Amino acid sequence: MSEFVSGGRYEECQVTTDWLLSRTQVRPTVGIVCGSGLGGLAKMIKDPQVFKYSDIPNFPKSTVHGHAGQLVFGTLKGKPCVCMQGRFHLYEGYPIQKITLPMRVFKLMGVETMIMTNAAGGLNQDYKVGDIMIIKDHINMPGFAGINPLSGPNDDKFGVRFPCMSDAYDRKLRQLAHDVATELGYSEFLQEGVYCVLGGPSFETIAECRMLNRLGADAVGMSTAHEVIVARHAKMRCFALSLISNRAVMDYDSQEKANHEEVLETGRMRAEQMEKLVSTMVARMEHNDNSY
Ligand code: HPA
Repeated sequence: MSEFVSGGRYEECQVTTDWLLSRTQVRPTVGIVCGSGLGGLAKMIKDPQVFKYSDIPNFPKSTVHGHAGQLVFGTLKGKPCVCMQGRFHLYEGYPIQKITLPMRVFKLMGVETMIMTNAAGGLNQDYKVGDIMIIKDHINMPGFAGINPLSGPNDDKFGVRFPCMSDAYDRKLRQLAHDVATELGYSEFLQEGVYCVLGGPSFETIAECRMLNRLGADAVGMSTAHEVIVARHAKMRCFALSLISNRAVMDYDSQEKANHEEVLETGRMRAEQMEKLVSTMVARMEHNDNSY
């Protein structure tokens, strides 16, 4: 066992991949990660085969209320896919390499495109609760302090030592999301912006929200960016959506307080539209692989 890295090594990921592939016929090309309160997407998967995280070798366990904690294989709109119904976060106490291990397992299974969803606090003053934000870029705050899932010895089997992140969120998939959202009549609540990840679990102070907003972040949350870094390192295409579940408090006179129940409640309110947007995109990707 390496003295440096506590999760996500090639051999460890291979064991998990072999274990899963010997138990399912599905060979997924699309990977989906469902955020807090957004696990309903997994219910659209046909002929589902479900594995509890607690049964999968080397997988961490999901500890958050609102996250089912299982991996679902099957087909979505005819496309073989694997869906994480619940994800892992830094604040659960796992090493960052461990919480992103599923991305490498997906890569070894043959996944080419990753779709992530999350719930996030809206920092942009034009955003409303219930808006869906296409993530066009991220600010990796823990990374500024050296907490990056790629720190430690680089494994060339997955990717290069210094991966580019200026194209992390696939431009064509973002365009597809705009097109699909327009067709579905979702333009009124569709946004595109910058997501800032923090370690959590405490929500941000007012001063922190003001700072993040001035730094150029439109939404703040506790996930996704780490997964995207590992997925991009391994050359998978990434697309991510934030559901604005609450407005970050920016004003000292405000009585509003961020809380997890509001996050889940907003998820219930918009879940159907999020699911429709993602599933229509997946259907379209299949027919339009060259253009999207
Ligand atoms: N802050 C951080 N993470 C979040 C928030 C928030 O306001 N809402 C949902 N996830």
